[in-house]
Amino acid sequence: MDAVTTPIRKSSLPAYDPALREDLASIYARMRHVMPELEWAVHAPYVAAINALKRERNAVILAHNYQTPEIYYGIADYTGDSLGLAQHAAATEAEVIVQCGVHFMAETSKILSPGKTVLIPDAEAGCSLADSITPADIELLRRRYPGVPVVTYVNTSAAVKAASDICCTSANAREVVESLGTDRVIFLPDQYLGRWVASQTDVQIILWQGACEVHERFTGAQLRDYRRLHPGIHIIAHPECPPDVLEEADYVGSTTGMVRHIEESGAARVVMVTECSMSDNVAVQFPKVDFIRPCNLCPHMKRITLPKVLAALQTLSPAVEVDPTIAARARLAVERMLAVGRGAEQAPMPLPRQAAAG
Ligand code: 13P
Ligand code: SF4
Repeated sequence: MDAVTTPIRKSSLPAYDPALREDLASIYARMRHVMPELEWAVHAPYVAAINALKRERNAVILAHNYQTPEIYYGIADYTGDSLGLAQHAAATEAEVIVQCGVHFMAETSKILSPGKTVLIPDAEAGCSLADSITPADIELLRRRYPGVPVVTYVNTSAAVKAASDICCTSANAREVVESLGTDRVIFLPDQYLGRWVASQTDVQIILWQGACEVHERFTGAQLRDYRRLHPGIHIIAHPECPPDVLEEADYVGSTTGMVRHIEESGAARVVMVTECSMSDNVAVQFPKVDFIRPCNLCPHMKRITLPKVLAALQTLSPAVEVDPTIAARARLAVERMLAVGRGAEQAPMPLPRQAAAG
């Protein structure tokens, strides 16, 4: 093994001594409100080792908003929603991309940057939505609805993207659907995001029965309880939630849209109806906002840890590979989406009840 591929043994991690504490003080300062120093002392040696090795490897670390604060604030070069991560993967000059997120996100990076090494620190980091649909299902749908275009959420495998006409994320789903200029689209695989889009557009949406195992656990009754217990609370929800949850929300949008909305609304008390770690990350950005935190964790996102990121950089594995023929077709679907961009999420999306009232 050469110097670059020789694993750093755990014993060679720097100790959390006063010098390291001082070196990393500015990083810890960002997350100290959500992490006691006792916990930081465990993470800090990994943060130091990862940041050093990252430079040596000419690597960039992309972290989704659902990653834990020590990843999000400690080692990530770019953080964001699925669309932002894809845009960054397409633009980066780095030789290595470390995807702190789930497998479909790493595949999207590989599709957009086929010449780069794309690492996913835990290859088992899956997604209930990605598991809910196959290319064979799409073939059946195309036979049932001839000529109707297939819009596929990025939370799917490369093979499913390759069988689709265009991808979308939660940030641009309506714009993508409307960009096709058809009366009907097949929308896969998230039934709740599909229903949300249907409530925002005149295009008829043919749904699939997939769901996110994290967001489908929220209920409208739970949110009504929050309103009762915390008067004046502002509810912001991800569109992967069921319709009765979205009905109760003051704002619905992608994870990035949620953050923008907190900033623009000036809300003092917020409940974020989405994955649990996101509230920690956002609480750091808005120290004056009081966050009520229901904690639905995504078990797949939580597979990514600092020791696994360090091991991935040391060994350059697990690397994500996508069959070149599938990648070429999937790239078309993702690039069509990137051409549509972020759409109207620049501004908060109108709520169904506001639209109905107006
Ligand atoms: P966005 O960050 O694109 O809103 O996606 C949410 C999600 O569930 C990703 O797995
Ligand atoms: Fe998939 Fe839901 Fe986890 Fe996102 S939060 S990765 S959609 S299971």
